[in-house]
Amino acid sequence: MGFVRLLPRSASRTESAVLEAELERAPEVPVSDLLSEPPEPAQDAVVSAAAPVLTPAPVQVPAPVAAVPGATGTRVIVLANQKGGVAKTTTTINLGVAFKEMGYRVLLVDLDPQGNLTMSLGLNPDTIETSMFDVLVRKIPISDVIARREVDLAVASIDLAGAELALAALIGRERSLEKALVEVRDRYDFILVDTPPSLGLLTINAFVAATGVIVPVQCEYLSLRGLVQLENTLAMVRENLNPRVGVEGIVPTMYDGRTLHAREAVEILEENFGDLVYRTRIRKTVRYAEAPVKGSSVLKYDPAGAAAEAYRELAREVLHGTQAREHA
Ligand SMILES: Nc1ncnc2c1ncn2[C@@H]1O[C@H](COP(=O)(O)OP(=O)(O)O)[C@@H](O)[C@H]1O
Ligand SMILES: [Mg+2]
Repeated sequence: MGFVRLLPRSASRTESAVLEAELERAPEVPVSDLLSEPPEPAQDAVVSAAAPVLTPAPVQVPAPVAAVPGATGTRVIVLANQKGGVAKTTTTINLGVAFKEMGYRVLLVDLDPQGNLTMSLGLNPDTIETSMFDVLVRKIPISDVIARREVDLAVASIDLAGAELALAALIGRERSLEKALVEVRDRYDFILVDTPPSLGLLTINAFVAATGVIVPVQCEYLSLRGLVQLENTLAMVRENLNPRVGVEGIVPTMYDGRTLHAREAVEILEENFGDLVYRTRIRKTVRYAEAPVKGSSVLKYDPAGAAAEAYRELAREVLHGTQAREHA
């Protein structure tokens, strides 16, 4: 069945126009079928036009593989989606603080040159002198760039914009973050990595260091093609650099349950990705935009509110998911 038939009939004009446009670009077959087909080489083999990271040979694309369960010790969770504005940064900070509230030791890592995560915790990326750029490229210890805020944060600065290019010239360029984390791994239970809206070397570095990937997906503008592309990149990383990495879960964000459009978007996700879609829906509310202005998480900004509770629920689900799989 094509996705077009799932178009919400009673959704407003703008909403259905957005979904329709997305669906026109998306192939009219279930994503599960797509994933078993060979990729189009031009689109899928090139990870970054500026610096091809992985062998651009055609790869067999397997179905999405869940993160390997049962790994003891620190979990390195990467928040990724090459689309901007889907709540990667919002999820990194609030999920991280939710884990901290539960008593876990948490480190956040800002790998986005835009430095939104760094800003969200009240720091100015434009005036920061040493940052993840120096860690990845100049190999300084990551402990030198960890700021103690509401939650520990390895900071980004504007320099990070040059990291893709600088890394491209280095041997072991895909393993720079993995190596940097060795120093601090024992000090944290969770390391959450926020990534830029691209599948370039910074994001690849995050995938190589990861034990699992969580993909925030915006219910308003569902991009299935984007998710397929993300999975293809992960498949290449599994094959070449980190066999255990996989999508641990998909979080529907900016969910407005009053619109049929949002409910349809979640249905489409569940049809295609099944149990990988978390039960928690992160609802649309201005609270998530207000908190970073105060340099804090929504859990600190409005501790009793529904917005904070949603991320606590997600944290329980992320924990429980692993425990459930470990005991299976
Ligand atoms: N659940 C939500 N409801 C409403 N606005 C949100 C929600 N989550 C995030 N936002 C806002 O949407 C914008 C994009 O979120 P952000 O986390 O920066 O996305 P990304 O890191 O994927 O680019 C920000 O202004 C953020 O405050
Ligand atoms: Mg961001």
